[in-house]
Amino acid sequence: MRDTWIGEIGEATAGRVVEVSGWVERRRDHGGLLFWDVRDRTGKLQVVFTPETGAVMEAAAAVRVESAVSVRGTVVRRGPGLENPKLATGTVELRAQALTVEGPAEVLPIDPMDPEVDEALRLRYRYLDLRRRSLQSNLRVRHRMALCARNFLDAQGFVEVETPTLARSTPEGARDFLVPSRLSRGAFYALPQSPQIFKQLLMVAGMERYFQLARAYRDEDLRADRQPEFTQIDIEASFVDREYILDLTERLLAEMFRNEGFEVPLPFPRLTHAEALDRYGTDKPDLRFDLPIADLDPWADACGVEIFTRARRAGGVVRCLRLPRSLSRRELAETEEAAQGLGLPGLGSLEVGESADRGPIARHLRPQVRDRLLELTGAGVGDTLLFAAGERPVVCRALGALRLRFGQLLELVPPDRHAFAFVVDFPLFELDENGQPTPSHHPFTAPHPEDRSRMAEDPLHVRSLAYDAVLDGVELASGSIRIHQRDVQEEVFRILGMSPAEAQSKFGFLLDAFRYGPPPHGGIALGFDRMVMLATGAPNIREVLAFPKNARGYDPMMGSPAPVDPAQLRELGIQVTVAPRG
Ligand code: AMO
Repeated sequence: MRDTWIGEIGEATAGRVVEVSGWVERRRDHGGLLFWDVRDRTGKLQVVFTPETGAVMEAAAAVRVESAVSVRGTVVRRGPGLENPKLATGTVELRAQALTVEGPAEVLPIDPMDPEVDEALRLRYRYLDLRRRSLQSNLRVRHRMALCARNFLDAQGFVEVETPTLARSTPEGARDFLVPSRLSRGAFYALPQSPQIFKQLLMVAGMERYFQLARAYRDEDLRADRQPEFTQIDIEASFVDREYILDLTERLLAEMFRNEGFEVPLPFPRLTHAEALDRYGTDKPDLRFDLPIADLDPWADACGVEIFTRARRAGGVVRCLRLPRSLSRRELAETEEAAQGLGLPGLGSLEVGESADRGPIARHLRPQVRDRLLELTGAGVGDTLLFAAGERPVVCRALGALRLRFGQLLELVPPDRHAFAFVVDFPLFELDENGQPTPSHHPFTAPHPEDRSRMAEDPLHVRSLAYDAVLDGVELASGSIRIHQRDVQEEVFRILGMSPAEAQSKFGFLLDAFRYGPPPHGGIALGFDRMVMLATGAPNIREVLAFPKNARGYDPMMGSPAPVDPAQLRELGIQVTVAPRG
């Protein structure tokens, strides 16, 4: 078996007899010689079998690719012109003298070196798929980033504390995964959607500086950046304010991403939630390119264009996106269709011309009104303005989505550019689909001190001490300063429509803990998988997890979730009333 890693082999080792172990990645027959590329975790090496080795070469000829092998031989310099500059070991090769087939491979169900394999098959044979260089590299980046976070937080005085995963429901707003209890039949644990309540209790307990690389579980619709179980770098600290957490978070992110070769200028730009929505149409703005949404409200009031003035009279807004070029008819038609899909009844457009503008709005604009419009939007000859009018959230979100679309279409994002940002001052509440106030973050988030007095009469306009960190338009982290006063917490529960009895039954242990000297505290949780996804440039979160679930929350390799033995169900007192779906 191995005495030398492939990564250690090169010209310096020429002449040495070594034994390497690994997998046969490629094999070629060439004029009586047999060539292999053998791969281990450190690199790849060309191995040559020559006819003089007799039985060794015969044995090698019968070995299939991806078999696990050990080869003993002499490292020799390759002849002139035979070097392979693409390979770190490309100036040498191993002349085989002995071969052990440690683990023969059958015909492969997938070729792990083929970049085009269907994802369903990749997940089914994940152990082969993981031999892929990109996945091996992603898992190493993941390891490095975890280590970097642990070292950084340790140096800042934080202590990693593990919290239970057999827990009760926690308030992150998704559905829970439930685990039936055998000892308390008919009762269930919930897998935590985050360690939120535990970390707050650790603050009451006097830990002061807590962190954890914690697994969190959420039963929600999956997307490219969501998995049903994922990892958070969860952080909480006592006797600190928002500045402390934001400063800590940006230094942690800078350390982790700089370690992976990113440029991370500090401090991160900060936007309020209202600014992010107005300028970029989203609470996770992609600041790698500019293209902000222009606020045309005062202009629209007196612009004389009927659709705009009507929208303003109805309490709506008028906003505009300036594109740095003209659009073809087809592009414009596609944009209008996209706008309708985004909930806009229509999209006005204007192409700024040298002497005359083009577009349906052009002839309605008086010269002074037009000049003011160009001033407000910064538009010049050749630019296209896209206008939307209506309710603020709909207009902003739709233009925000169009902004992203044009960011891609117009290739405004240089490949190596990255942009971090903080979004602060989220509203404390938002309305759910039934028109009921619901927490924007979670119910333990503190109101902004400037808005505290407005809580009772105007809760929907109360800002909170919640914040997000965003990278390239992806929400990386979320946190807040918490409520630590019982009366404020009770008021929040009341606004959420929760009776004192209900609040007590759901979160009684936290409310009780707040009777006994709770320190002011706050924290944040960073979505670790998302961070690795962005650091590696992976197209989705599954590429940075060893054994992910597919988009339907299913693991095709283990076949999980799966029906269980009826005896197990009987023991738990559970009867399944539906046929399991395949
Ligand atoms: P939040 O729910 O915003 O906050 O989660 C924190 C971060 O976790 C990541 N994330 C996910 N990553 C992968 N798959 C998912 N399904 C998923 N859901 C969330 C995101 C997100 O920003 N307890 C609070 C934090 C706090 O207040 O301290 C919480 O969990 O990157």
